[in-house]
Amino acid sequence: MKTVKKEIEKIRNEMNQDQYYLHCQYIMGILAVKIKIIGEQLVLRNKRDVIQNVSQRIKTPESIYAKMLRKNLEPEFSLAKEKLNDLIGIRIVCLFLDDVYEIAEMLKKQKDIKVIKEKDYIVKPKKNGYMSLHLIVEIPVCMGDKVEMKKVEIQIRTTAMDFWSVLEYQLLYKKNVKGADKVGKELKSYSDEIAALDQKMLKLRNRIESI
Ligand code: GTP
Ligand code: MG
Repeated sequence: MKTVKKEIEKIRNEMNQDQYYLHCQYIMGILAVKIKIIGEQLVLRNKRDVIQNVSQRIKTPESIYAKMLRKNLEPEFSLAKEKLNDLIGIRIVCLFLDDVYEIAEMLKKQKDIKVIKEKDYIVKPKKNGYMSLHLIVEIPVCMGDKVEMKKVEIQIRTTAMDFWSVLEYQLLYKKNVKGADKVGKELKSYSDEIAALDQKMLKLRNRIESI
């Protein structure tokens, strides 16, 4: 137990060096502004609200440690920076299904954003029902005469998907819950209902817009 604490402390100390948090803030600041501009462009284009909420987080030393162990990797921060894509995470919540892809396309178009991986858990939800579009992107951090590429995980989802995933995260995600099979099945059925509802809302919006 003591060594676990020590390992986590080591990661924490390493994170406090080399202006790591400042670099993260720089990236999150740039992305926050980009997403704000994209949001405003979409409001003008679609004549309605699109982005509901944007949140950001830096992975904690505890969570880095746990993830490295899960991946059978040495819990070293330098290795984590190389191997983990979600040390910086941004979540964009929007209203309609097609908004998700419009936002993703606009992010992908940006010249200083390089998409290195795209996971579409909307077209193909996870077995438990999790839905979201994930983009793993790289952004350059220019500091002095150096340019360092930093990875960010951007999750884009509808309000309905967000509702499901926030609750599922609380109830089950990475937890050992007794009878998880049964509740898992129930949660999956709610995710199916949410997927159907998102489709219906989109159809309804299109119908209203065509009147
Ligand atoms: P993690 O170890 O969970 O970070 O997975 P990963 O790095 O293999 O990537 P993945 O795309 O599966 O998941 C990245 C992130 O998406 C997670 O950290 C969560 O924020 C979210 N996520 C993925 N799967 C689930 C899920 O089943 N339920 C919920 N609530 N969130 C999920
Ligand atoms: Mg994660």
